Amino acid sequence: MKIITVNNQFQGAEVALDILKDKLAEGAKTLGLATGSSPEAFYRALVASNIDLTQVASINLDEYVGLSKENPQSYHYFMEQHLFKHKAMKAHFLPDGQARDLEKAAKDYDHLIEQHGIDLQILGIGRNGHIGFNEPGTDFSSQTHVVNLTPSTIEANSRFFDRKEDVPTQALSMGIASIMSAKSIILFAYGAEKAEAIAAMVQGPLTTELPASVLQEHPDVTVILDEAATSLLK
Ligand code: GLP
Repeated sequence: MKIITVNNQFQGAEVALDILKDKLAEGAKTLGLATGSSPEAFYRALVASNIDLTQVASINLDEYVGLSKENPQSYHYFMEQHLFKHKAMKAHFLPDGQARDLEKAAKDYDHLIEQHGIDLQILGIGRNGHIGFNEPGTDFSSQTHVVNLTPSTIEANSRFFDRKEDVPTQALSMGIASIMSAKSIILFAYGAEKAEAIAAMVQGPLTTELPASVLQEHPDVTVILDEAATSLLK
């Protein structure tokens, strides 16, 4: 893992844009995208840049079960607001959290990931070390699946909802194996509340109890952190 400490998210976004430019120059055609506050500055910088994504497709990590695309808390809506409506791309894909048959939607999503292949995956990290919505205990060989969100994730994500009761209890998420299949990965983490997860990801044992620890096994991961997120690193 390559660890880069930056002063703030704007600097982090610039570092990530440089990596993205290199990957596009090498022929990257598919980006794996993430939601959450961690990649926001990156999307803003990407929108403001002259980087051409018209030949590039995106595949998002996850979506809540049961929220419509128009719901401001859905990840469809987040992506539309933060990136898609500002930047032309070849195609966008997100899991269909409203599918009647979620198991089929998960299988279809795996086919899509296989067909495209992910060249560069953007990630954030949950306070409990989750990536995508792969909660502690998720098998490293998992593919797209329906997830029961943990109380800790529901609590953390309730800040985006009016009431905690409004947070969906399930999501459709790309699996850990799908994330690991990406050729390159950039993970952003900012703030003291991520320090524990980052320390465990980087120097803890490889364990499904800390899903992001699997990234120790990936050959091309860049971790972009602010000082606060590095505070528990040795
Ligand atoms: C959610 C998302 C993750 C994200 C995490 C952290 O649970 N499913 O993809 O990485 O939250 O979010 P934030 O970056 O807002 O801290």
